[in-house]
Amino acid sequence: MDRRAIGLIGWGTVGGGVVEILEQDGALLRDRCGLDVQLKTVVTRSPGRARERTPKGALITDRLAAILDDPEIAIVIHLVPGTTVAAEVCAACLNAGKHVVTANKAMLAEGGDALFALAARKGVAIAFEASVAGGIPVIAALRDGLVANRIDLISGILNGTCNYILTRMEAAGISYGEALAEAQQLGYAERDPTLDVDGTDTAHKLAILARIAFGSGIPVSAIRREGIDRVTYQDIASAKLLGSRIKLLAIAKRRAGGIELRVAPTLVPLDHPLASVNKNYNGVFLRGHAAGDTLLVGQGAGALPTASAVLADVIDLATGRYQMTAQRFRFFASGTPATVLPESEEVTAGYVRFAVNDRPGVLAGIASTLSNHGVSLLSLHQSEADPTGQTCIEAITHPHQRASFRQAIASIDSTGLTTRPSICFGRF
Ligand SMILES: NC(=O)c1ccc[n+]([C@@H]2O[C@H](COP(=O)([O-])OP(=O)(O)OC[C@H]3O[C@@H](n4cnc5c(N)ncnc54)[C@H](OP(=O)(O)O)[C@@H]3O)[C@@H](O)[C@H]2O)c1
Repeated sequence: MDRRAIGLIGWGTVGGGVVEILEQDGALLRDRCGLDVQLKTVVTRSPGRARERTPKGALITDRLAAILDDPEIAIVIHLVPGTTVAAEVCAACLNAGKHVVTANKAMLAEGGDALFALAARKGVAIAFEASVAGGIPVIAALRDGLVANRIDLISGILNGTCNYILTRMEAAGISYGEALAEAQQLGYAERDPTLDVDGTDTAHKLAILARIAFGSGIPVSAIRREGIDRVTYQDIASAKLLGSRIKLLAIAKRRAGGIELRVAPTLVPLDHPLASVNKNYNGVFLRGHAAGDTLLVGQGAGALPTASAVLADVIDLATGRYQMTAQRFRFFASGTPATVLPESEEVTAGYVRFAVNDRPGVLAGIASTLSNHGVSLLSLHQSEADPTGQTCIEAITHPHQRASFRQAIASIDSTGLTTRPSICFGRF
């Protein structure tokens, strides 16, 4: 049988998943692809560390040269996290003429242009299915299955940690802090969850998807991002009352003048399929002009789901299929540069909650200020006042320019109609 020797750099969570699948299910791959994929060398900083499972017959070493200088290894699985060292290791592999399979979205979103240019110069490929949405084959869907489509919208729940926290806040009626602590206890959130909860991780993934769907030249810095750390239980309860659920959505939308890009907590109507993607699951909603709407749902992280995506790329490279795609198709770092629209030009429906004193004229004042800024209302709800006369007015607006919406809210808050700064979110 055709044998392919591969190398692995970085034997952490996902690396462990790769080893487990190859050790336990190598026969399935051999049957299905007629290829014997063998992990020949593993480069790790701690070769002596005891592991649950070690790859039979593989060299375990801390010397990167063991992979770089081995002419038999043509494909390297790169699972080093972060950006700087990770990019150096990736570049060393490309310079040595190796194809690279990586799950590292931060490295690609921040420095992918230089790495893809290097790969092109060296005549090798970078495969990155595992970098977005773990086990969900969304990159293959955009690149292959939907290739005949102009993609008009990508909307995704791309971070399982955030989705778990928001789901638990709603289900258990608990605060953001309590849900985060629970997620950390269960291993769904890191000890330092900043990059997940502040939207950075989701922005990295959106930058990668947007480059495939819309063209090159989409820096991650162009993606407006808000995290979930300011979402309160009251926001979630209010959204529910208005027939919606708050999700951290990554949105890339094609408009006449360019692409809208953002990551933000967003109200999703309960009858939209993304509203049912709960717990630590990821979901990606794609709108193609020919195929229409497609929803992909699955495990967005974890050792085995991510390793599943890594090995799909390995097989694609081992059979030679991916090299053809990488050479011929203009995606990620090539193709037409996309224009990213500024935030002020975004058009979106919105939710806003005004804290007010329950007295005549307040509701009319709010409605007329919104209307003066061209913001029209879809629905309005006023809660019972508490014994001190405090209440909330909640509104859902029709789609409007974000700049007008912001000006209207600032104007309402500055005229004394509200007792606290108003809370607002976009609505999908
Ligand atoms: N975990 C997931 O569910 C998931 C999902 C999608 C994508 N990813 C991405 O996949 C990559 C790997 O994630 P992971 O969860 O497997 O991470 P991890 O458990 O932290 O393991 C990463 C491994 O990389 C190696 N490493 C770390 N710092 C290094 C350095 N400075 N120099 C050389 N090697 C270094 C270490 O391997 P050794 O101990 O062997 O040296 C470490 O165990 C990351 O980019 C991550 O964002 C992860």
